[in-house]
Amino acid sequence: MPTPVVLDCDPGHDDAIAIMLAAGDPAIDLRAITTVAGNQTLDKVTLNARRVCTIAGITDVPIAAGCARPLVRPLRIADDVHGSTGLDGPSFSDPTVGLSDLHAVELMRSVMPATIVATGALTNVALFLSRYGADGIGEIVLMGGSTERGNITPAAEANIYVDPEAAEIVFSSGVPVTMCGLNVTHQALVTPDVLGRLEVLGELGRTCAELMTFFAKTYRELFGFDAPPLHDPVAVARVIDPSLVRCVDAHVAIETAGTHTRGATVVDLDGYLGLEPNAQVAVELDVPRFWDRVIAAIGNVSGIRAD
Ligand code: RIB
Ligand code: CA
Repeated sequence: MPTPVVLDCDPGHDDAIAIMLAAGDPAIDLRAITTVAGNQTLDKVTLNARRVCTIAGITDVPIAAGCARPLVRPLRIADDVHGSTGLDGPSFSDPTVGLSDLHAVELMRSVMPATIVATGALTNVALFLSRYGADGIGEIVLMGGSTERGNITPAAEANIYVDPEAAEIVFSSGVPVTMCGLNVTHQALVTPDVLGRLEVLGELGRTCAELMTFFAKTYRELFGFDAPPLHDPVAVARVIDPSLVRCVDAHVAIETAGTHTRGATVVDLDGYLGLEPNAQVAVELDVPRFWDRVIAAIGNVSGIRAD
């Protein structure tokens, strides 16, 4: 039976592919897409979610906008990575997919029970937990954090950095949490081979390749990567087939007070703290099988049989 999923995201180039993977893979029943400010402002990431669903022909999944700013901190966007639109690269015509009148948290509530896949700041998820508790949430699988260094400060990954207070609520909620951090998403590199497999998937595949070409440019200029890491689809892949993403149990503490370490995920892989594990932490990606699933899913939504 496919897993019911709510995808909470901030499109975002990698979020865009995560939406297509979640919609196109038969192991997932994508019940709702919700948006949260992060990569860009709420208006922009919400427009981008509608754009992605329009070009991918995803017309049966409701989209709702959520929180426009983190719980406590001012919003810090990533326009340096994703551009002024949040989805720079290709040009998009006006979306035909609409927007729900519900707040994201209410749309989440309306489709429970489900797994929440979170690929942006955790503000919406924390608000849901605060308002409704763990009611109906099977698991929270998130892209965020790192067992190693950060990507927005030396210590913090962007999704957790934007709203560390929300992350603390999520990791201390008691809901089963799986953390797919940079240490594993940096294994999901969009190499020329992957680009080539996208480009033969018709107009949608070519648009995905254009998105990745822009993403590659910013990742080369900002981080010196030869190929950009496609972070968010790794969290979706974990739900599709847990064998794609190897995890270990660990206690994860979120730094909310550190002067230099705000937003750090302190992952206690060796049990130094003597605390019970509160998360499954991703440590290894089955890269070939991961890309096979991504390409097949985009083939499914584009109506073109993948390689
Ligand atoms: O640090 C990478 C994460 O931050 C990804 O989810 C990307 O889309 C941005 O939201
Ligand atoms: Ca994201």
